[in-house]
Amino acid sequence: MQPGEASATGTMWKATDYGDAGYWDARYKTEKGGAPFDWYRSYAALRPFLRHFVPTSSRVLMLGCGNSLMSEHMAMDGYTEIVNVDISSVVIDMMKQRHGHIPQLTYMEMDVRDMSLFADTSFESVVDKGTLDALMCGTDASQAASQMLGEVNRVLKQGGIYMLITYGAPSARVQYLKQAGLNWKLTLYILSSSRVEEEINGSSSSAELSMEPVPLTENGQLPPGFVLGDLESHYIYVCEKLN
Ligand SMILES: C[S@@+](CC[C@H](N)C(=O)[O-])C[C@H]1O[C@@H](n2cnc3c(N)ncnc32)[C@H](O)[C@@H]1O
Repeated sequence: MQPGEASATGTMWKATDYGDAGYWDARYKTEKGGAPFDWYRSYAALRPFLRHFVPTSSRVLMLGCGNSLMSEHMAMDGYTEIVNVDISSVVIDMMKQRHGHIPQLTYMEMDVRDMSLFADTSFESVVDKGTLDALMCGTDASQAASQMLGEVNRVLKQGGIYMLITYGAPSARVQYLKQAGLNWKLTLYILSSSRVEEEINGSSSSAELSMEPVPLTENGQLPPGFVLGDLESHYIYVCEKLN
């Protein structure tokens, strides 16, 4: 997320706009002619984690899909059903047109704080790359995060996985992932930017070998003295719904 960035039309966006549907509609209408854009990391960099924790046969809910290539690449890699939602009608229309020929992908305009169109326990997997982050930039961030995570919990099957890919360290995210009403087993991974280089150089096998979880304290925090080797890193929280 880059607060203070200028859009193609010269509008100066503020970080607080990221929680606002109007901001995203305007952005998707104007920027870069609708070219696909992936926040943080591509599917290639995340593939080992997705393939390990999200079975290809599972019904996957993609939160705040944007105009990312993730779902398309997942479908090409064997995923059989991915339901993509986003609050921006502009991006949903764009993605329906772009991916209408891919039967594994469906797109729906929806606010992740209210996913009542979906039945309880109707997904085995939920993937979120940058959407909780967007909500947490907006006004009423705590309430928005709690509502969204309550909905994720409701639509997930027992034993299902919510995979959160974020820039947020445990000090800013775990309180929400452990909020009342959620009984999730958390495992944390850190994806360093060196992985991006591996991806560019096409040597992803060495990265697959480095999928080591980060040990967390009882409260789900990084251990005292833990130093993040790389400030460009992203966090991957794998949350398994226990009941
Ligand atoms: C940072 S972008 C990430 C897009 C995409 N997941 C990616 O990785 O490139 C956040 C996305 O969340 C969507 N979004 C923001 N608030 C939302 C909400 N309340 N409900 C559904 N989608 C939302 C935005 O429209 C935007 O597409």
